[in-house]
Amino acid sequence: MVIKLIDDRHLARSLRSDVRTGLTASPKQLPPKWFYDSRGSELFEEITRLPEYYPTRTERAILTLRAPEIARITEPKTLVELGSGSSEKTRLLLDAMLNRGTLGAFVPLDVSDAALEAAVAALNQAYPGLSVSGVVGDFVQHLQHLPDGDSRVVAFLGGTIGNLEPAERAAFLTALRAALHDGEWLLLGADLVKDPAVLVPAYDDAAGVTADFNRNVLRVINRELGANFDPYAFEHVALWDPANEWIEMRLRSRSAQSVRIADLDLTVDFAAGEELRTEVSAKFRREGLTAELARAGFELRHWWTDPHDWFGVALAQAVHR
Ligand code: AVJ
Repeated sequence: MVIKLIDDRHLARSLRSDVRTGLTASPKQLPPKWFYDSRGSELFEEITRLPEYYPTRTERAILTLRAPEIARITEPKTLVELGSGSSEKTRLLLDAMLNRGTLGAFVPLDVSDAALEAAVAALNQAYPGLSVSGVVGDFVQHLQHLPDGDSRVVAFLGGTIGNLEPAERAAFLTALRAALHDGEWLLLGADLVKDPAVLVPAYDDAAGVTADFNRNVLRVINRELGANFDPYAFEHVALWDPANEWIEMRLRSRSAQSVRIADLDLTVDFAAGEELRTEVSAKFRREGLTAELARAGFELRHWWTDPHDWFGVALAQAVHR
């Protein structure tokens, strides 16, 4: 079963507003959530299999090792997953939590209807005894609507928290804490600060899959808002911002051009070389993340990494305040 907290009309309205705001701003920018139509979700799945893209396989290795421990410590009745996508890594957690005998329900939440429907169907097949109810929603806006319960673990994996800038992260973590009861858990996957020689290729792979993923946002705007972007008139850019400790993806206009967005009755001019920011992917340090969690009312209880210290999995508990 899939419940929609955002319907297609609401989704269309927020796309229109994001595109109008972002493309009339200076510098131009778009939020990364619009990458993920069905093609975008598939391209992201392809990214996770690239040799350069270490986060997914590194997090999976950590979870493979630690899932039994996580299940033993948290003993959840309900596992909620934010930004679940294909829910593929989640199976490690589901298996461990079902083995422990406590788990009764899984609630994946994602903006991508297509990805969610497919994931829910596959999970129902694989786990006949488990109640799986998908929620189509935005993990920033819809935390108050998480199904109530006790003994919940909220998993937010893959490093997706890095898509939020510091102020948005603080608001998100505070809202999540408010939606939880004392003692409930957050399992957070965070990509860590490391050598840019490792970081940058992960966002600029040799096969060009990430470039295609980046350009996909233009195809989404073409289809949904009647625009006439030529995706190949933009060059894929990935850069490391050492001051903010984040990766930025941009699309750089190869020439001076005007783009018409019919449904917004808007013409957008790009100068030659002008860049449109399409994603921020922040990288973390243990101390900084511990402090951010504490400010929101979560205490870090466990911290697991891989042998290279490339990716961190934090288990934090909502504390009384
Ligand atoms: C899904 C947000 C975790 O930031 O690494 C992958 C998205 N962007 N390659 C990330 C992404 C470019 C990914 N997250």
